[in-house]
Amino acid sequence: MSIAVHENTKTFHLFNKEISYIMTVLPNGQLGQLYFGKRIHDREDFSYLLEIRQRAMASNPFEGDRKFSLEHVKQEYGVYGSTDYRYPAIEVLQKNGSRISDFQYQSYEVTDGKPKLPGLPATYTEAPEEAETLAVFLKDPVTGIALKLLYTIFEGAGAIARSVEIRNEGSEAVHLTRAMSLCMDLPDCDYEWIQFSGAWSRERHVKVRKLECGIQAIDSLRGHSSHNQNPFVILKRPDAGEERGEAIGFSLVYSGNFLTQAEVDTYDATRMLLGINPFGFDWKLEKEASFQTPEAVMVYTDKGLNHLSQTFHRLYQKRLAHGYWRDRVRPILINNWEATYFDFTEERLLEIAEKAKECGVELFVLDDGWFGKRCSDRAGLGDWVENRERLPEGIAGLAEKIEKLGMKFGLWFEPEMVNRDSDLFRAHPDWAIQTPKRAMSQGRNQYVLDFSRPEVVEAIYQMMSKILRGAKVSYVKWDMNRSITECYSLALEPERQGEVFHRYILGVYSLYERLTSEFPEVLFESCASGGARFDAGMLYYAPQAWTSDDTDAVERLKIQYGSSYGYPISSIGSHVSASPNHQLNRETPLYTRANVAYFGTFGYELDLNKLTQQEQEEVKEQIRFMKKYRETLQFGTFYRLKSPFEGNVTAWMCVSQDRKQAIVGWYRVLNEVNRSFSRIRLAGLEEEWLYELEGTGEAHYGDELMNVGLITSDAASGEVTADDRPSRDFDSRLFILNAKR
Ligand code: DGJ
Repeated sequence: MSIAVHENTKTFHLFNKEISYIMTVLPNGQLGQLYFGKRIHDREDFSYLLEIRQRAMASNPFEGDRKFSLEHVKQEYGVYGSTDYRYPAIEVLQKNGSRISDFQYQSYEVTDGKPKLPGLPATYTEAPEEAETLAVFLKDPVTGIALKLLYTIFEGAGAIARSVEIRNEGSEAVHLTRAMSLCMDLPDCDYEWIQFSGAWSRERHVKVRKLECGIQAIDSLRGHSSHNQNPFVILKRPDAGEERGEAIGFSLVYSGNFLTQAEVDTYDATRMLLGINPFGFDWKLEKEASFQTPEAVMVYTDKGLNHLSQTFHRLYQKRLAHGYWRDRVRPILINNWEATYFDFTEERLLEIAEKAKECGVELFVLDDGWFGKRCSDRAGLGDWVENRERLPEGIAGLAEKIEKLGMKFGLWFEPEMVNRDSDLFRAHPDWAIQTPKRAMSQGRNQYVLDFSRPEVVEAIYQMMSKILRGAKVSYVKWDMNRSITECYSLALEPERQGEVFHRYILGVYSLYERLTSEFPEVLFESCASGGARFDAGMLYYAPQAWTSDDTDAVERLKIQYGSSYGYPISSIGSHVSASPNHQLNRETPLYTRANVAYFGTFGYELDLNKLTQQEQEEVKEQIRFMKKYRETLQFGTFYRLKSPFEGNVTAWMCVSQDRKQAIVGWYRVLNEVNRSFSRIRLAGLEEEWLYELEGTGEAHYGDELMNVGLITSDAASGEVTADDRPSRDFDSRLFILNAKR
């Protein structure tokens, strides 16, 4: 890995074994993009890549030169209005009303490792040799606005992390009305755009379309990254698939309003933009003040989508998530939400916990309803003090009892919210986000606290930390159950109201930072009505996230499959819940519910006492299974084999780091009659090794399993068969392969 800087040609080449990223200073002094893709040779001069030639109707910045136009050169951090007409990376509104800027190259700096981004989640290094960082300094001579474009290239991964620090070195304040994290011009548009879209309970469904001339974008204006869109997209070549072909993934390490946009111009060039959503964004940058954009990460591969995802998985699992739980297999938990909702007493919780312990569960999680007057979703949020009518000995007493049973104790919070019916709201009605003289819209009967105000964050910190200090709490589920409306902060002056959405997220991050630092061994799971904040920003603080409120095994195939494109399996919160399922009323077999949930953090969300004796025995076996295989499932290499978006059968697999073990999950939604024989080609195995299929005595070489395939034919409906288990709808199987060598 290296960053080559060619002073004569002012060319920067970041490369490692996988990728090259090349930039140069353009003839007009701005920074141009030359190449991002598979590693190529380094050379002093790549200026042949600058396609500068005369075109009719182009505007030209240099008098007498009709060839150079920003409209036609690929740029690194483009500006609008001085011969480029595409959407820009940055817009600076100046005192005189002008929005024109011209960022001229000043200097550069190369350092080992990677600097921290103040107040923001970001990838990191643990040793200086893991990465190198290039900072390119640019400055607009008129306003004095200085940019520090940061590029980090990681050893052994096709990944580049980017962000921008914007500093006002001028003599007067300006307003940033756009400050993207990443701008990159690709020379063609021969791509398919893959986005991960949905809604509550059907998050991150895979949507693919051809990139077309014009603008295609996904975004959020809800104050969180949202159920609806995810700040992660892929551009793939039309012929690329899971196992081969070129693709670039773009991920934003941010949890608030975002924009990810591809603008294909009429010359077939593609400009990618990622960052804070410019809609409504207006940041007043005083003299000598700085603004730091969130980080964006891009990954290039020529080895297919599985490889692209695996690169994100490794980077995000090992160098974004951090702390005590980063490398540890996750405890098998039971959560009381779908078992009781708000209707519980301590006695009832202990009944659930005792049975869970008997089955082998390791962590009991008390969900919503333990505090203030929270007996329904109409009251209590904001009052983080235990309800003694329900929990006579408080959280400390209950946690003690759970620990005595031999389990760890976990607790739910929704720190950012307040109900009108709460002591907090009665004392501080102005702490809720609201616009003067306007109605306050509700979501789930609640308001959003103004986390852009440090005193609000401080008050919530005091309440939460008191609980965490006073009781044996080993896990926190941090929920967030509504979007922001009438966004305005009563504590900020009018001309700073465009800062509130971003300041809100900074407030959320500051509380996460404080709590995770003070309670380093507590496992945090992020949540937002299921998966409305399943993003890379959250992953920095909370190594796992509740993936969706939809716990139906069949729906989960799509949700978990979609999530796997950008996020590691160890981050995918997944539980076995009751049948019929509470979201869909669908009845699925217990083994299928577990077979899906194994590919995640794994836990239960039901009252195990309500299962038959036989089912309880099955649960015990499932827990034994997960304990045995969770290292491979959560920290192995994950491969998607068959997509639930394309057919009746889904398949995926995890291969242990040493490749000696593989676990294949196979799922068929609807039963079929008298169907064909079937095989699935596996991936990631050692070609020369003989793998034994557990429970059958059969063995096959890795090359057979990857080229011929694993036989998955089973008894079909209508067949006369001696199989123990008759085929059915919502069927599934696991195949465990162990290398014999
Ligand atoms: C939404 C979460 O996604 C659920 O798991 C549960 O915690 C409820 N909130 C509790 O109100």
